[in-house]
Amino acid sequence: MVAYKRGTFGDGKRVVMEFIPYGKQHITQEDIASVVEVLESDFLTTGPKVKEFEEALCEFCGAKYCVVVSNGTAALHLASLALLQPNDKVLTTPNSFLATSNAIVYAKAKPIFVDIAQDGNIDLDLCEEYLQKDSSIKALYGVAFSGNMLNQEKLAYLKQKYNITILEDTAHAIGAEYNGIKAGSCVNSDVSIFSFHPVKHLTTAEGGAITTNSQEVYEKLLVLRNHGMVKTADMKPWEYEMKELGFNYRITDLQCALGISQLKKLPSFVKKRQEIAQNYDASFKNSIVKPLYSFHNNSSYHLYVVLVDFLSTSITKEELFIQMKEKNIGLQLHYMPINKQPFYKNLGYGNEVMPNMDRYYKECFSLPIYPLLTQKEQEYVIANLLELLDG
Ligand SMILES: Cc1ncc(COP(=O)(O)O)c(C=O)c1O
Repeated sequence: MVAYKRGTFGDGKRVVMEFIPYGKQHITQEDIASVVEVLESDFLTTGPKVKEFEEALCEFCGAKYCVVVSNGTAALHLASLALLQPNDKVLTTPNSFLATSNAIVYAKAKPIFVDIAQDGNIDLDLCEEYLQKDSSIKALYGVAFSGNMLNQEKLAYLKQKYNITILEDTAHAIGAEYNGIKAGSCVNSDVSIFSFHPVKHLTTAEGGAITTNSQEVYEKLLVLRNHGMVKTADMKPWEYEMKELGFNYRITDLQCALGISQLKKLPSFVKKRQEIAQNYDASFKNSIVKPLYSFHNNSSYHLYVVLVDFLSTSITKEELFIQMKEKNIGLQLHYMPINKQPFYKNLGYGNEVMPNMDRYYKECFSLPIYPLLTQKEQEYVIANLLELLDG
């Protein structure tokens, strides 16, 4: 990366850029053409593109089965209905989007919020302490936060030793690999889920997917995605049967066509994100801005999260967000602790002792990272951030 000069930009003059969000999609003419092709076909809702997208995702992740759905939250909901029973205790992280633990509640099960480790992921050592103390804990919902895969050796160990069900929320992590184990491959988990929201690595506008290696889970998910309806060969042509309550969580052929086209570009998207992360890491060396974790290839960098000790700055975090926005730079915060949300407080959560999450929440924020972010824009972000933090 070209060295930037703090407080100046390009020829030495500060140039205010177009708004730079923390994340955004990259749609090409090829993507658009693939959607138009479906618009001109016979299938707008469920048609051949759904299966084709599912097969492409299986191939990409190395999982046996995939069910694509209307969004990542629907993926978590259906997976939870397939995996959990009412009142099951489930270890999960406070450092995620609301949907992760909400899905546990949808299934009438009970989240147990566990503190995070230094990398922002659920602390798997602490999970083991919970499992040792309470043999009735049934499951673990971990999030590959920011695109950084959960420690796979530790997941394998916990699964085997404590016989728990594991869901990997890999909404941030498509394209990530942990020592050859791909996000979504479910080598050490029962299911993984993805989200294809536009800020994620690849988008279908709204969209999500569940991957699994279990035929039983797969078949259950197919039925739940479509109202719980079953049609068998021995039925009359108009007949169907509903044995359990399902949903309309179907995704359209239009969206799947976009997903198939985007998936082809995913490796280059991940590479670009990793380059941006490396540039940030190098630029923040010896500064007050600390990357959440030093660059490594296990992360596909949906987010680039940094920590700043605001006790040692003249600017507060809120002021920083506002002043960066004035410079057309969008910061974001991932995440507010879920267990402290009013809904969860009403259920009796919120007073868990979580020193790492508490400190993390005070110090963290996310910087712009997406394939179309230019080097110029990144330099502009870095220069403004360091200048404002210097006071
Ligand atoms: C970790 C995580 N899980 C689940 C979801 C839900 O995905 P969706 O927005 O597609 O419903 C998100 C969305 O931001 C997420 O970040």
